[in-house]
Amino acid sequence: MPHEPGKVLLVGAGPGAADLLTVRALRAVEGAQALLYDALVSDEVIALAPDACLKIQTGKRAGRASMKQNTINRLMLRLARRGLRVVRLKGGDPSVFGRVGEEAAFLHAHGIATEVVPGVTAASAAAAQFGFPLTHRGEARRLLVATATTEDSGLTQGGWAAAADPQTTLALYMGRDRLAAAAERLIAQGRSPLTPAIAVENAGRPEARAIPGALGELGPILAAAAPSGPVVLIVGEVTAQAAGVAARPPMNFAEAG
Ligand SMILES: C[S@@+](CC[C@H](N)C(=O)[O-])C[C@H]1O[C@@H](n2cnc3c(N)ncnc32)[C@H](O)[C@@H]1O
Repeated sequence: MPHEPGKVLLVGAGPGAADLLTVRALRAVEGAQALLYDALVSDEVIALAPDACLKIQTGKRAGRASMKQNTINRLMLRLARRGLRVVRLKGGDPSVFGRVGEEAAFLHAHGIATEVVPGVTAASAAAAQFGFPLTHRGEARRLLVATATTEDSGLTQGGWAAAADPQTTLALYMGRDRLAAAAERLIAQGRSPLTPAIAVENAGRPEARAIPGALGELGPILAAAAPSGPVVLIVGEVTAQAAGVAARPPMNFAEAG
């Protein structure tokens, strides 16, 4: 993919492992002259950028605060106007809770072209790694990608009814510390407390961990497991197909070989 100067590539870095990058994303990173990367982008992926590439961390990492969105937008604009090949690198897929719409709109409003390069989103990585599908004929006819939290870190008020259908697989992003409350909200909306679920921490990475449990028991299970990395919660019958996970919670994928 030729990268025209002055154009910003909004690229999905996938869940962490460099071999889960698309070939297009790899080419973009290898050809970058300026790389602005989020907190969830792994060191392994950042290391693929040329030594001479200007690497700018924009997310919260190693005690440093996140850059404000407006600062990131202006920085991308300035670098693109200098004629550099700018790559904005985001964990997972940039179109899934990645603010890609806001960033593209800002750049377009200032006359800068963009191109989105998709990536493997956390839910897909979790399902592949732990051996369950996200949809399944006769069992899960809908995949609902949602977040549990609002901008001020509260639990979202509306929208839960959409997840009550027993044939919905729900992938809940963000709000690791609100997952027990989210499970309660789902049960209150009519989802059975016996519905199987899996919280996956660090999906797609060697240190990934699956924390399975029935919806009604997730609170204490998650409290005991105390995940500290990024977590995506998958709720639905499909998670019962997870290979060997449901039988022995919580499991460390790295140990499973
Ligand atoms: C701002 S969203 C970005 C999502 C990302 N664009 C994607 O497609 O995966 C951040 C949230 O995604 C989820 N997430 C991202 N990477 C993850 C990973 N490797 N394992 C588990 N969850 C992850 C977590 O819920 C995290 O709080």
